Amino acid sequence: MTFIKVMGFSVVLLAFYAVYAQLLPQVEPDRSAPVEASTDGLDMAGMIALGEMLFHGKGTCTLCHNDLGRAPDLLQTDLAASFPERLADPRYSGVSAGKTGAKAVEGYILESMRAPSAYVVAGFGKKGTDDTVSPMPVVDAAPIGLSSVEMNALAAFLQDRAGFDPTVPLPSADDTPVAQTPDAGAGPAPLLTSGQDIVDEYGCAACHDLNGSGADIGPSLYGIGKRMDRAQLIEAVIDPNATIAPGFEPGFMPSDFGDRMRGAELLTLAQFLLELPDTAPALPDPSALPVATTVTEVIDNYGCAGCHDLEGSGAEVGPRLNGLGARLSPDGIRTAILDPNASIAEGFEAGLMPDDFAQQMADSEIDLIVDYLVNLPE
Ligand code: HEC
Ligand code: HEC
Ligand code: HEC
Repeated sequence: MTFIKVMGFSVVLLAFYAVYAQLLPQVEPDRSAPVEASTDGLDMAGMIALGEMLFHGKGTCTLCHNDLGRAPDLLQTDLAASFPERLADPRYSGVSAGKTGAKAVEGYILESMRAPSAYVVAGFGKKGTDDTVSPMPVVDAAPIGLSSVEMNALAAFLQDRAGFDPTVPLPSADDTPVAQTPDAGAGPAPLLTSGQDIVDEYGCAACHDLNGSGADIGPSLYGIGKRMDRAQLIEAVIDPNATIAPGFEPGFMPSDFGDRMRGAELLTLAQFLLELPDTAPALPDPSALPVATTVTEVIDNYGCAGCHDLEGSGAEVGPRLNGLGARLSPDGIRTAILDPNASIAEGFEAGLMPDDFAQQMADSEIDLIVDYLVNLPE
């Protein structure tokens, strides 16, 4: 987008531009703590511009979607041709299967972000998975953690690049606020003084298993202090292609951290990496939570609303569960939860719904959720 076009937008957008411009790569990245601001009043042009900023900034999309060939280069590809091709691919069976047009493309883009493995572009899958598992992280969960407004803005940006009129809803007062950074006039960003903040700011967990992300595009950094000393670690961060970790590919880790981080931050980061434990800390185990006594707790503890449209989440990774009682018997519903791959709901992918609820959930919790679903009105 040219600056001239930006000038034509509303005052609201200009305010956004001032804020998000700092996240564009040519500008010193902002390192201060995010503050909350409302997106209320943003028009579609504003959504597209916000999406572009997020693509380069908080979304960390350009870490992978660039010209290095590790992910489709969404800024160079002719999306007007490639998105419709994906929808027509016989391998595609996601939310927009069999559909065409702008709304279908919106569904495809949002699904790419929420459930990247629902469809994997040929040649880009994780090694050894025959293009069934995507290396792309889910972007609405840690470490990237985009809100639904932010994902809609990214979808609007990509729809616009593909020549479609964006179909995403505009932000409303009920949406969760978008995390913003304070404006450029505030002076140089404060120095980051904690290793964890530096890891968060530079998106290391999108590729390395940190913060429980489980990412494996780069090697695990746990126990790295046993393999590398301080100087080697600093070199690995600022000149990642100097030596390549065995079994991993060169060219994937960004090579500009040395330009973007201050010296003191590099030292803090190196110390943080040296002190990482030998193995990843165990994630909180849902079965260790006290047994849920209400259906809301069951849904929250086991993340059902992250994939199904429950509690107003609007999620579409899995089917809508309203009116399920008319289609399935209580036993059928129980089986669908405990053994999700026994039969696959039409139009949805196998292997996405967790298959270990039988081990995780107490019998009383299963009874609660089955009862609830049997009676959930259409
Ligand atoms: C760690 C690397 C990585 C990051 C970060 C990442 N992606 Fe991806 N993405 C991929 C890979 C690899 C593919 C191709 C495999 C697939 O289809 O899932 C992909 C596929 C996609 C597709 C489908 C592309 C097509 O040609 O059909 C879209 C859309 C997409 N990503 C959007 C995004 C957005 C938006 C962001 C930022 C919020 C993002 N990605 C962040 C690696 C990444
Ligand atoms: C887009 C993906 C990506 C991001 C983001 C990323 N890395 Fe990496 N990293 C890799 C890959 C792939 C390798 C293995 C190839 C290599 O050695 O260059 C690697 C290697 C490393 C190594 C060497 C590990 C070894 O065992 O030799 C260190 C240390 C490291 N990264 C630290 C970091 C830190 C700290 C950050 C955040 C400031 C970060 N990385 C961000 C992909 C990434
Ligand atoms: C990571 C995403 C994900 C999570 C979390 C998830 N599901 Fe699912 N679920 C799916 C997908 C995808 C399908 C469709 C494929 C299939 O049938 O396995 C599905 C199918 C189902 C079905 C069958 C629906 C039908 O129309 O046949 C039921 C019932 C169900 N899920 C209930 C739940 C419950 C209850 C929870 C929480 C305890 C849950 N799901 C958590 C993704 C998820």
